[in-house]
Amino acid sequence: MILVWCVLALLALVPVSTATNPGVKVKLTQKGLDYGRQLGVATLQQKLRTISIPDQSGKGRIFIGKVEYSVTGIRIVNLQLPTSTVGLVSGTGVRLSIDNANIKAQGNWRAKYLWFIKASGSFDLTVSGVTISVNIAVNNDNRGRPSVSMTSSTANLRDVNVRFTGRLSWFYNLFRSYIERPIRKALQAQICPLVAKSIPDINAELATLNVVAKVDNYVEFDYSMLGSPIISSESIELGLKGVFYNIGQRNEPPFSAKPFSLPSLNSKMLYIRLSAFTVNSAAFAYHNAGAFSFDITDDLLGGLFASRRANSPDSDFHLNTKTFEASIPQVAKLFPGLKMKLLVKTVKAPIITFEPNNVTVQISSTVMADVIHQNNTLSPLFMLNLEASASPQVNIDGLNLKASVTLNRIQLSLNKSYVGKFEDPSRQASSQFDNIVKTILELTVIPKVNVHLQNGFPLPALGKIKLVNPQLVVMKDYLLVGTDGQYLG
Ligand SMILES: *[C@@H]1O[C@H](CO)[C@@H](O)[C@H](O)[C@H]1NC(C)=O
Ligand SMILES: *[C@@H]1O[C@H](CO)[C@@H](O)[C@H](O)[C@H]1NC(C)=O
Ligand SMILES: *[C@@H]1O[C@H](CO)[C@@H](O)[C@H](O)[C@H]1NC(C)=O
Repeated sequence: MILVWCVLALLALVPVSTATNPGVKVKLTQKGLDYGRQLGVATLQQKLRTISIPDQSGKGRIFIGKVEYSVTGIRIVNLQLPTSTVGLVSGTGVRLSIDNANIKAQGNWRAKYLWFIKASGSFDLTVSGVTISVNIAVNNDNRGRPSVSMTSSTANLRDVNVRFTGRLSWFYNLFRSYIERPIRKALQAQICPLVAKSIPDINAELATLNVVAKVDNYVEFDYSMLGSPIISSESIELGLKGVFYNIGQRNEPPFSAKPFSLPSLNSKMLYIRLSAFTVNSAAFAYHNAGAFSFDITDDLLGGLFASRRANSPDSDFHLNTKTFEASIPQVAKLFPGLKMKLLVKTVKAPIITFEPNNVTVQISSTVMADVIHQNNTLSPLFMLNLEASASPQVNIDGLNLKASVTLNRIQLSLNKSYVGKFEDPSRQASSQFDNIVKTILELTVIPKVNVHLQNGFPLPALGKIKLVNPQLVVMKDYLLVGTDGQYLG
């Protein structure tokens, strides 16, 4: 008995310990489905137009005599699906219902009555009140993409009406029910198989969805689907991995996504929720790749000043030993008139936090300062610890999430001096040292980071969908994008 409990307890534990929480969630609402319906119906209409009604022939009886008939060359001339609805089936998928569809076809007839009356002509076929109901399950294709399968399909034809035209057609119209019956059967037998044929087409389209996007030379974004979609009567929700990795080397970040649920909003077609975990996995990957390492030289500063010279009061600001004279007097004394180089490098991954309407980045880095001798060799001067906080503004542009940051405040402290003792900048009375370093960062590192952030990060692939009126809100621990979409075909 105890053994049984142990086994049960272990079984209960297994899924919990192996489960990965999604970093990104995508929710498709009824409004999104209604839009998708138009696309689905167009596809279905094309498929149904390929219905072929086989030639029919047979015998019947009118009054006292037998009639022998054949109908040939039946072709669909019109097929309308005017009324359709798509609804969610909790737990499984979607149901597409078509009402009042109608089909018009034309063909030729030929008939013989008794032994001496023969006639032929053409006929019009009208099928009206066609209803089709299809249940489609939405699954995970086990390779991280959604896939669909047809779980049931029914088709009904209310009226099938044939009218002959031509010589003696009034007479032959009397036996048209002989012809209507097999035609109804032939149509009825074809509708559901044709509907089923659209399923592989949809899956082929879904299989082209990319689940890993290369962002740049440093990182790629994995948004493969985790687990099965959650389907309620209001929406379909997909959990996506949502992790940024270094290209070619999949180090899992040392932190994991927390479980979260989407707010119950339904006014847009689509909602995408990006967790702080996802964004921090990007910071972790960039840090690992050494992307947060910036060389700053006087030439770089000079170049930037040249472009702002006209209206800059700091245009004689230089990265040289004199600039640091007030804070570290010996630097200017030991190396008079020499230029300097700074290397700013993160010591750990920046940490991004989301609070309502507020994104904050905490950055821990070092600043290594070297002097550049006349012969271009370097000597180390000092190393600083730099703690900074920045506020990014995030926005959506096209299918990308973009950002730009401004530096809030920085805090410097001495890590190591190679030129003897000097007062730790964190204890210096005036904040001149901080101001110099902050100005340098704002002129060099920040613009460089912003160029990169403006290239943007791809939102999970939406196939050939263009976002319409996307809205982005910063909530506690996540970013929420609500958007309508437009299919680009
Ligand atoms: C944003 O959050 C940070 C840290 O929580 C805080 O220091 C800062 O003042 C906030 N900014 C705004 C504009 O609320
Ligand atoms: C470059 O100049 C510095 C300072 O004058 C000197 O100490 C160093 O030996 C020189 N290095 C080379 C390779 O000439
Ligand atoms: C100096 O910086 C390194 C990181 O490069 C850090 O590990 C170390 O603790 C720092 N030392 C001091 C005294 O701040």
